[in-house]
Amino acid sequence: MHAFSFHNPCQIEFGQGQIAKLTQLIPINARVLVLYGGGSIKRNGAYEQLQTALSGHDWLEFSGIEPNPEYETLMKAVEYARVEQRNFIVAVGGGSVIDGAKFVAAAVPHEGDCWLIIGNRTQIKSALPIAAVLTLPATGSESNFASVISRRETQDKLSFKNPLVFPKYAILDPSLTFSLPTRQIGNGVVDAFVHTIEQYLTYPNEARVQDRFAEGILQTLIEIGPITLAEPNNYDARANLMWAANQALYGMVGLGQPQDWATHAIGHELTMLFGLDHARTLAIVLPALWRYRFAAKQAKLAQYGRRVWGLTGSDNTVAQHAIDNTSAYFQQMGLATTLSAYAIDAQTAADNVAAQLIRHNRLKLGENQDLSPEDCRAILITAA
Ligand code: NZQ
Ligand code: ZN
Repeated sequence: MHAFSFHNPCQIEFGQGQIAKLTQLIPINARVLVLYGGGSIKRNGAYEQLQTALSGHDWLEFSGIEPNPEYETLMKAVEYARVEQRNFIVAVGGGSVIDGAKFVAAAVPHEGDCWLIIGNRTQIKSALPIAAVLTLPATGSESNFASVISRRETQDKLSFKNPLVFPKYAILDPSLTFSLPTRQIGNGVVDAFVHTIEQYLTYPNEARVQDRFAEGILQTLIEIGPITLAEPNNYDARANLMWAANQALYGMVGLGQPQDWATHAIGHELTMLFGLDHARTLAIVLPALWRYRFAAKQAKLAQYGRRVWGLTGSDNTVAQHAIDNTSAYFQQMGLATTLSAYAIDAQTAADNVAAQLIRHNRLKLGENQDLSPEDCRAILITAA
C-alpha cells in the first residue's frame, strides 16, 4: 500500500425529502445562484422542493447546462453570477450540472483567463461554496473535487481538480431518480462500475481493505443493476445505486492504490469526437483494454473473477471469463461494447483518438504509465 492523505469535507444528506435541509444549511443572507440543465428537475419534483426550501432566501437561476457541460455556456453563468453578485451556488442535476457548477464557482472570483482553470493550468485562490442536489447517480461529482468541461470549438474535453471546489453539501434523495430514462440508469451503473475498476484493477498491491471495498461496490452494482433498470420506482434499488455510485468516486476506493484511468482518457476523446455518452465510451473501451493488457492485469483480473463473479479455475481461465462476464453485464445494462454498434468506423476512431491524445499530451497512460497513443490506437481497432 502506497502512502496517502485523505480528507473529504463534503456533508452528505441522504434520503427522501432531504432538499428541505437546504433551508438551514445555506446561510440566510447568501446570494444564491441555482444552476440546472435542460429541465428534468421540473418533472421530478426537485425544482418544486427547492422553491420551498429557498423561499426565504435571495436566489436566482441559470438553466441550460448541457450534458458534457460546455465552456461557452458556463461562461454565461459566470458573467451572470458576477453581475448579480452571487456568492453561493446550488447545482441541481447530474454530473454535468455539478461539474459545471464547480467551474462556475472557481471562475467567478478568478482574475485572468478562466479557460486555464480547466486542465489545472493556472492557480485558483478561492471558489464560491456549492451545494449539490444529485438527480443522476453516476459520476460521484456531488462529493468529489473533480470537474470535466468540454469546449467544442477547440475539440477539448478536459478535467480540473481542486479541493476548493469540493461541494460543501450534497443532497442524495433516491426518489429524485425515479424519473430517469433507462438509458441514463444504464449509464450510471456502468460509470460507477468503471470508476471502481479504474482504481482497483491494476496489479496486486496489498491494500486489502480498499480491494474488498471495491469488490463490495462491484458486487452491489451487479446485484442491483438489473433490478433498478426493471423497476424504476424501487426505492431500495435506487438508494443502493446512489450510494454505490457516490462511494465509487468519493475517494476511499483508490487510497494508496495504483490507478489506471486509461479507459476514461480514451473515453473522453471518443465523447468529444463522436458525441457518445460518457458511460457508453467506457463500455466500449474497457473490455478491449483488458484484452490488450491481459498479461499485466491477469493477477488482478483473476482476483476480480473469483471474488466478484465467483469463478473457479486457473488464473488464466478465470481472468478470461471475468472479461466476458463484464462485457455481458454492460450489454445487459443496455450499453453496447463495440464501436460498430454506434456505426463508428474503428480505424477512423483509432486514428483520431490517438491524434487527440498526442495533442492533449496524454502520452503515458495507465497504472504503469506505459500506455502510449499507439497502444490506444491498437485497443480501439480491436473494439470494432
Ligand atoms: O439536463 P437535464 O434536463 O437535467 O437532463 C439530464 C441529461 O440530459 C438527464 N437527467 C438528469 N437527472 C435526471 C435526468 N432526466 C430525468 N430524470 C432525472 N432525475 O440526464 C442527462 C444526462 O445528464 P448528465 O449530467 O450529463 O449525466 P452524468 O451524471 O452521467 O454526467 C456526465 C458528465 O460527468 C462527467 C462526464 O465526463 C460527463 O461530462 N464526469 C464527471 C466526473 C467527476 N466530476 O468526478 C467523473 C466521471 O468519470 C465523468 O467524467
Ligand atoms: Zn466516469
